[in-house]
Amino acid sequence: MSSEVHPDIERVLITADEIQDKITELAKHVNDDYRDKDLLLVGVLKGAFVFMADLARHIRLPIEFDFMAVSSYGSSTQSSGVVRILKDLDYEITGRHVLLVEDIIDSGLTISYLLRYLEARRPASLEICSLFWKKGEQAVSMDIRYPGFEIPPVFIVGYGLDFAEKYRNLPYVGVLRPEAYGA
Ligand code: IMP
Ligand code: MG
Repeated sequence: MSSEVHPDIERVLITADEIQDKITELAKHVNDDYRDKDLLLVGVLKGAFVFMADLARHIRLPIEFDFMAVSSYGSSTQSSGVVRILKDLDYEITGRHVLLVEDIIDSGLTISYLLRYLEARRPASLEICSLFWKKGEQAVSMDIRYPGFEIPPVFIVGYGLDFAEKYRNLPYVGVLRPEAYGA
């Protein structure tokens, strides 16, 4: 595998190895906490698909998967605060243990909206696992049960995260060069 950094990336913030180590650690907590329970992982598309796939392969429990797709950004790099549901759950979650898997929490508006939405369906439990969260950016205080990396309030791409649908396939996360935004 090539270890070359994509030419549009100005600097790598978190390496592929650091991400994988963190995921192993997060999965260990999940395995311990949900022992003897059936767990439903709900991934937030599209950003969380890479993280969810890697996380799930470290979980030693009888898990099932569902996905929701929401849109909060359009193709801009600023949260609009307006959350639109593009794809709802396929299954009922009433009485189930649900772990909401998110790529990144920035303002927290997306996750707060989803929590309220899912809570209304009365799951047995509902927790958040987010690989990244931006320090000091959350408009509302929130309890992230399984937090990955705290990052500075910069726009990042890679490992599922995109800019205008690109860069999701990078195995690390990094900051884009200004030219890559079309600036
Ligand atoms: P929030 O509603 O402001 O918390 O934004 C959450 C969503 O915006 C995430 O699920 C991502 O899809 C997207 N997002 C937030 N920050 C970034 C970033 O730095 N890079 C790419 N997408 C981001
Ligand atoms: Mg997302």
